[in-house]
Amino acid sequence: MDAGITEIGVVTGRGKRAIEDHFDISYELEHEIAGSDKEELLSSTREIMDRCTFSYTRQVEMKGLGHAILVGETLIGREPFAVVLADDYCVTEGDGVLAQMVKLYEKYQCSIVAIEEVPIEETYRYGVIEGDLEADGVYRIRNMVEKPAPENAPSNLAIIGRYILSPDIFDVIRSTPPGKNGEMQITDALQIQAQQSRVIGYRFAGRRFDCGSVDGYIEATNYTYQLQSS
Ligand code: G1P
Repeated sequence: MDAGITEIGVVTGRGKRAIEDHFDISYELEHEIAGSDKEELLSSTREIMDRCTFSYTRQVEMKGLGHAILVGETLIGREPFAVVLADDYCVTEGDGVLAQMVKLYEKYQCSIVAIEEVPIEETYRYGVIEGDLEADGVYRIRNMVEKPAPENAPSNLAIIGRYILSPDIFDVIRSTPPGKNGEMQITDALQIQAQQSRVIGYRFAGRRFDCGSVDGYIEATNYTYQLQSS
């Protein structure tokens, strides 16, 4: 919403119906808390529901991030779109990370990936880029590799879970063979665009928590708790 995006598509799967119910009215719950001091907690969810539309589609088989994005094609059509991997939780002081990236998209009109420096021994957990610095925090990407061992990593600049993609990426994903772990990798598809100088890496202003790890999840929880109680 902060980035001006109000059409939200969620790629979901078996056993995750609670996500769909989250952005919907819960008559029973609302009845229970009406008139109590918890009633105000509803207003933020209601505001999101009023301003956005939510559409869902299912990824039936887990064939990788590139495949999940391709499954979303039916919700997106032919326009640039953002991808949010919700387990990467990003906090910023000013504009949110996607709002920062939308501004960059307006300038560069090509795919953009958020990046951050990671310790070199952790490159095996990320897509890693190599590029030329074009402006403060902005790299024109030449090469990108999915989850390289530290000795093969082209840098320690890792892709984190925020992307803006140009819609031709769907055709590129379709024609890219499976990569790391036999999965359809978005990094491999982006590498095709990068060879045509059509991918920007952006070191966003802010902090990221890896909520896909226990440590990151706890850190994010503590950080948010401290923000609310200060
Ligand atoms: C995915 C991407 C990887 C990226 C990471 C960011 O990996 O494949 O390139 O660096 O997200 O969180 P995953 O974490 O799903 O294994």
